[in-house]
Amino acid sequence: MSKWFFINLAVFIFALWKMSTGHLGVHILFGGFGLLFILYNWTRHAVFSTIRSNISRKRKIKYAKLSKKVLPIHKWTGTTALILILFHIFFVIHYFGFQVTNVKMVSGLLAVITLSLVVITGWMRFIKTTYKRRMIHLTLGFCLFTFVLLHLIF
Ligand code: HEM
Ligand code: HEM
Repeated sequence: MSKWFFINLAVFIFALWKMSTGHLGVHILFGGFGLLFILYNWTRHAVFSTIRSNISRKRKIKYAKLSKKVLPIHKWTGTTALILILFHIFFVIHYFGFQVTNVKMVSGLLAVITLSLVVITGWMRFIKTTYKRRMIHLTLGFCLFTFVLLHLIF
């Protein structure tokens, strides 16, 4: 199994722990569900890495079949993630206003800009797959993962 399964799970548990230590407002709930959808989509990378790794052909086929089954949901979970995060931001700004010097807000902003690009390149990739589009979607996915992690830590 790819180490990414464990990394993604660890990030989600870390987020749950952070959420449980503060006041669970509606803004946090939207952020948490948005994160869940993002991590669900990002796990596609873990599945792909597993398929490419050194495992038996039988298991590769099993994972490839599973991957094909969840593909139709991928585009909708990704798009829903963006909508949930927009609600998260709406409530955050409603409660606290936007503070440019707040690290949490700046890291969040970088994350949501990247998320928008991931969704746009995802749809471009869906309409017409080229090697370049595939690599851009994947690279932006890595950047998104990093920014989200920074947003959770700070
Ligand atoms: C992809 C984008 C985003 C994701 C996945 C996300 C996710 C989350 C999650 C899961 C939390 C709760 C855990 C914690 O407190 O660390 C949170 C908190 C927070 N987020 Fe975001 N967020 C995103 C974008 C943004 C943006 C753009 C802003 C700024 C407008 C923002 C502002 C905040 C603030 C201020 C908190 C702390 C709220 C509190 O402690 O009451 N987030 N976010
Ligand atoms: C949270 C947002 C998203 C994340 C984190 C994400 C991540 C990923 C990852 C990691 C892959 C596998 C990349 C590879 O190894 O080649 C992938 C594939 C793909 N993504 Fe996304 N994606 C997101 C949203 C979307 C959206 C909104 C669409 C819209 C159509 C989309 C369309 C696709 C397509 C068509 C593939 C190729 C599937 C395949 O060849 O089996 N993605 N995505």
